[in-house]
Amino acid sequence: MQEYSDRMRRLDKTIAFVPTMGYLHEGHLSLIREGGKIGDCLVVSIFVNPVQFAPGEDFENYPRDLERDLELARKNGADVVFTPDDKKLYSNGFQTYVNLKELPNHLCGISRPIFFSGVATVVTKLFNIVKPHFAIFGQKDYQQLVIIRQMVCDLNFDIEIIGAETVREYDGLAMSSRNVYLTSGQRNSALCLYKSLQKAQAFLSSGINDSEKIIDSASEIIKSGTNTKIDYIAICDPKTLIDMKKIDRQALMALAVKVGKTRLIDNTILNP
Ligand code: PAF
Repeated sequence: MQEYSDRMRRLDKTIAFVPTMGYLHEGHLSLIREGGKIGDCLVVSIFVNPVQFAPGEDFENYPRDLERDLELARKNGADVVFTPDDKKLYSNGFQTYVNLKELPNHLCGISRPIFFSGVATVVTKLFNIVKPHFAIFGQKDYQQLVIIRQMVCDLNFDIEIIGAETVREYDGLAMSSRNVYLTSGQRNSALCLYKSLQKAQAFLSSGINDSEKIIDSASEIIKSGTNTKIDYIAICDPKTLIDMKKIDRQALMALAVKVGKTRLIDNTILNP
C-alpha cells in the first residue's frame, strides 16, 4: 500500500482516501463517489478495527461481506481497496495509542470510553500507510469527524479532511451497517431518532430555543418507540461539543439510542 502511494505521489497524482469498516451501504458509496471526484486516485480501506470495540461490544458479530464490498467499491470508483489484517496492523508488541484530551469526554465517548482512542489510533495508522492528500468521513459520526479534524490539526497531518452529509433511507433512518441487526419492528421503531431531530428543528423555528425543553420533547418521542433506550440526547457546540443551554447560534443536536440490542446514532445541525 505504501509503495503504491509513493508511486502515485512521485507521479504527482493526488490520493483521496475513504476509510471504512466494510459492509458498505449507500452512505459509504456516496463517500467513495465523492472521493473519486476529489483525487486522481481513490483508496478505500476495509478494516474492522478491534481496538475501537470494548469487550462485550459487537466486534465478533460486526457484519462482514468482503466479496460484495470489493465489487461495490470497484463499481463506485475505488482504484485500490486496502484490506489489512488485524495481526499485521496490531503486532504483538503494539503499544502506541492516540488520545485526545477533551473531545472524547462528550456524547458517545461517555458510554464508549475507549472508542475514540481506537479510532484516532487506527486512522493515524491508515493515514501513514495510505498517505492520502484528502480523506473523507461521514457526518453521521459527527464526533468522530470533529476528533479527526482536531487530531489532523494537532499532529500536523498534511491531509485535508472532508465531511460528507449523512445519507438516509427513504423514510429518514440514517444509513448504518448496524441497521441489519434490526428486526422489522425495531426498524420501524428506529425512525424515532430522525423524527426527534426534525421535531427539534421545528421547535427551534417556532421560537423555542431552550435546550432542555427540546431535549425533553425528543426524549418523549424516543420513549414512545417500542424497545428503545436512550443513551444520550445532547445539544452542544458543534466544534467543542460542550453543552449549550440556549440555542442562540448554530448547535449540534446528537443522540444515541439502543433499539433492542442495537445502538444507533444520529445528529443534525440546528439553526436558530
Ligand atoms: O467510521 C468508521 O467506519 C470507523 O470508525 C473508521 C473511521 C473506519 C475507523 O475504524
